[in-house]
Amino acid sequence: MPRDVEEGSIVMARTDDQSVAQRVLDHIEKGSTDTGAEVWREPVGNYRSESRLLAELSLLRSVPVPFCPSAALPQTGSYVAREAAGVPLLAVRGADGKARVFRNACRHRGTQLANGAGCAKAFVCPYHAWTYTLEGKLRHVPHEEGFPGLDKTLHGLVPVHAQERLGLVFVTQDGPSDALLDELPVLVRPQQQVFATAERELDVNWKIFLEGFIEGYHIRFTHPESFYPYGYDNLNLVDLYGRSSRITYPFRRIKKLEAVPPEQRRVEGLLTYVYHVFPNVLITILSRHTNVVILEPLSVGRTRQITFTLANDSGDEALAEAIRDRDFVGTTGAVEDLAVVTSIQKSIGSGANNVFTFGRFESCIVHFHRELAASLLS
Ligand code: FES
Ligand SMILES: [Fe+2]
Repeated sequence: MPRDVEEGSIVMARTDDQSVAQRVLDHIEKGSTDTGAEVWREPVGNYRSESRLLAELSLLRSVPVPFCPSAALPQTGSYVAREAAGVPLLAVRGADGKARVFRNACRHRGTQLANGAGCAKAFVCPYHAWTYTLEGKLRHVPHEEGFPGLDKTLHGLVPVHAQERLGLVFVTQDGPSDALLDELPVLVRPQQQVFATAERELDVNWKIFLEGFIEGYHIRFTHPESFYPYGYDNLNLVDLYGRSSRITYPFRRIKKLEAVPPEQRRVEGLLTYVYHVFPNVLITILSRHTNVVILEPLSVGRTRQITFTLANDSGDEALAEAIRDRDFVGTTGAVEDLAVVTSIQKSIGSGANNVFTFGRFESCIVHFHRELAASLLS
């Protein structure tokens, strides 16, 4: 990332800090929170319908979607392979420093060339050892005389459109390569280190799981001992960025900023930001670590969650603190959230609700459903 962009974003972040601090302090004083303008009624059928899921998967393939943080590809040959919207993809950093993304399928008979993450000098197919460069060129075919007339230049890995922005590698599988990204701030800085990646499958619709991250109306009741003692109940800021959004969860200790002159206020360590990068990615920025959480719909009632966890600062000490914080925050609260969302999934066919009602305190979710519905129509 060019230096001027980074510095520009730091200046922006400071201005943002001051306005965020003031908005939070005002809410604390008044006992208020950011509220949306409308109540949204989402048909429950939209969480259960196979055809709706197919349309959502098609959307996930036609818009730019974060595939992994840039920091997950730190050096030449670093790669990440996973399925995105049902399609196996392989992201790799080339010798020229560029991140490329390919369909993860050998051009001989389709075997996947890599699994998980690692660092490679070339990709050698495990089946018959056709070999591809980091730039996707077919370099070697064992016993090439068995393929008379094979034009190796036409059998390179098939690229998908990829761009590195905001500290993330975005892919657009099938859509226009010039599709615009939402105007979000830089979310992950290049010097941040990925110290953990995790993958798990959950028995819950991807949207129900997503919704749990982007409202603070449940904090006191779902998290009485994990988050509520440190945070506020139903006191959040909501900021919209095109189809994406950010919700801010302040900690109680942010009140100490009342005594700090506005221009000197810094909010780092005093709140959690959760960015929803439309459609299916969440970036949670905590005091010392950041999670890039990708939700892959597998069926109407099953989701794969992929999480990249990064230290916010560089150096051994910052890394140790990030790991400690991750271990502290990451367990109880996440278990409590999973319990409520899987409970919703189990009752979703009960016939009790034809719609789910999202109120004015759940305005990030309202924004998500409005934008999702509009995108599926367009
Ligand atoms: S399928 Fe890859 S070399 Fe045969
Ligand atoms: Fe929660």
